[in-house]
Amino acid sequence: MRRRAFITFLAGAAAWPLALRAESFPARPIRIIVPFAPGGPADIVVRAAQGGMEQRLGQSFIIENVSGAAGQINNAILRLDLSNRSKRQEAGVMAAISLTVNGQTYSTDVDPDTPLLFVLQDDLKLNGPKFGCGIAQCGACTVLLDGKPIRSCVTAMSRVDGHDVTTIEGLGTVDNPHPIQTAFIEEQAMHCGFCISGPMLYGKAFIDQQPHATEADIAKALNGLLCRCYAHTRMIQALVRYAKESA
Ligand code: FES
Ligand code: FES
Repeated sequence: MRRRAFITFLAGAAAWPLALRAESFPARPIRIIVPFAPGGPADIVVRAAQGGMEQRLGQSFIIENVSGAAGQINNAILRLDLSNRSKRQEAGVMAAISLTVNGQTYSTDVDPDTPLLFVLQDDLKLNGPKFGCGIAQCGACTVLLDGKPIRSCVTAMSRVDGHDVTTIEGLGTVDNPHPIQTAFIEEQAMHCGFCISGPMLYGKAFIDQQPHATEADIAKALNGLLCRCYAHTRMIQALVRYAKESA
């Protein structure tokens, strides 16, 4: 609770100097992300401040709760202190969790709030899923959970206990790539490749469900995935190719 209050204080301290420069605000609503569920102390503080800010600035704000992002912040703090894991284990915070990753069973003792992404990267050394935003906004951390795409940066380990996770490493190999990987290579759909877990896994899950999807359907399915190289057009072409070849 003290950590929550501290984070809330930091968020407030960062926001109010901005509020003093009202003329720099755009006309459209500004989105404020509260990294906790609705109704908690942080949510209440931000919503209480919303009215005053709107009145003072003549600027509307949209408050969005991204529950789980706080776990990300907490775990970023935990990463700074490697001894914390054993301290939390002594305090009984850890839990035994077992899952299947790319066909291999994996069991671990871990803080159940730890994001799946951290375990994939740090413990299993899988670097296909990437840490982009950490708050479910970009899709770079996408993996398949029981065949459905999820954002592993905000998925707690407790959520994946007993489930099946597939990362892009689990799709195919260099010598024997999955057809969707071949399609991305054929269309030269990757630039830096940082974001590729998102379009490849969202695209695969979507087309496997809807093999006759049109280009427009595919473009819509990728909505919400960010690529800083602006390679979206080629990614859509790669998915159109994959749809045609797997129909
Ligand atoms: S890192 Fe998970 S959505 Fe951006
Ligand atoms: S290919 Fe570089 S971020 Fe998408």
